Amino acid sequence: MDDELNALRRTRMRWNTPLSEPHAELLLDRMALAEGDLVDLGCGWGELLLRAAARTPGLRATGVDTDVTGLDRGRAAAASRGLSVEFTEADAATWDVPAERVFSVGAAHVFGSTRAALEALARLVRPSGRLLYGDGFWAAPPGPAALEIFGPDLVTLPDLLDAADGAGWRVLHLSTADQLEWDDFESTSRAGWAEWLAAHPADPRAERVREWLDRRLREYVRDYRGVLGFTYLVLGR
Ligand SMILES: C[S@@+](CC[C@H](N)C(=O)[O-])C[C@H]1O[C@@H](n2cnc3c(N)ncnc32)[C@H](O)[C@@H]1O
Repeated sequence: MDDELNALRRTRMRWNTPLSEPHAELLLDRMALAEGDLVDLGCGWGELLLRAAARTPGLRATGVDTDVTGLDRGRAAAASRGLSVEFTEADAATWDVPAERVFSVGAAHVFGSTRAALEALARLVRPSGRLLYGDGFWAAPPGPAALEIFGPDLVTLPDLLDAADGAGWRVLHLSTADQLEWDDFESTSRAGWAEWLAAHPADPRAERVREWLDRRLREYVRDYRGVLGFTYLVLGR
């Protein structure tokens, strides 16, 4: 799919994770944000980072991602809100600057697996600091189709907590995305293209967009709604 359509697909998403506004505020509260460094590894367009910067005077916020489209959206949002947030194009897996506060939401795959992410992030958060870690888990036993989509590395929530413990983390906060957050995430992830398709039914790209939209909805409802969970942990030591 071309750059124009790729950029359009996520335009209706607040952030690229199943998360309501009140849940986001709760997580930022639990991160006890204060003056100092905050780095968001795999930030996307960095909406949560921008919210953190808006409410925390003296925060030095940096978002790291490899997706130029997302980074540009983040920079534009920072400029329009008058926020000083740095958006850096880099591989988060090689980021080696420790910070007092770190976000890693939906980006465990950058480090290879849940366990590898929790271990790598332990080296990047200063001993007195906190990590906001968001990751998927099996909320119910997956069928073959869900396993095919999400791969063999996803773990259950108890196993994810064991991995956090093994990497030396203490759990300061745990919450999970509820059904409305999931349904809104899935709906908004389809909405950008659904709106484009309604306005351009005869475009040569329309058939591919329709196929993608139909497949995504079918897979969500048949294969992973209620099966794939997503947890937000605030971790310290
Ligand atoms: C599911 S999205 C989550 C984005 C963001 N944390 C949020 O909650 O909106 C995962 C992000 O990881 C980014 N990513 C993938 N590989 C990466 C890498 N090696 N280094 C940095 N970011 C990466 C993707 O571009 C994408 O923006």
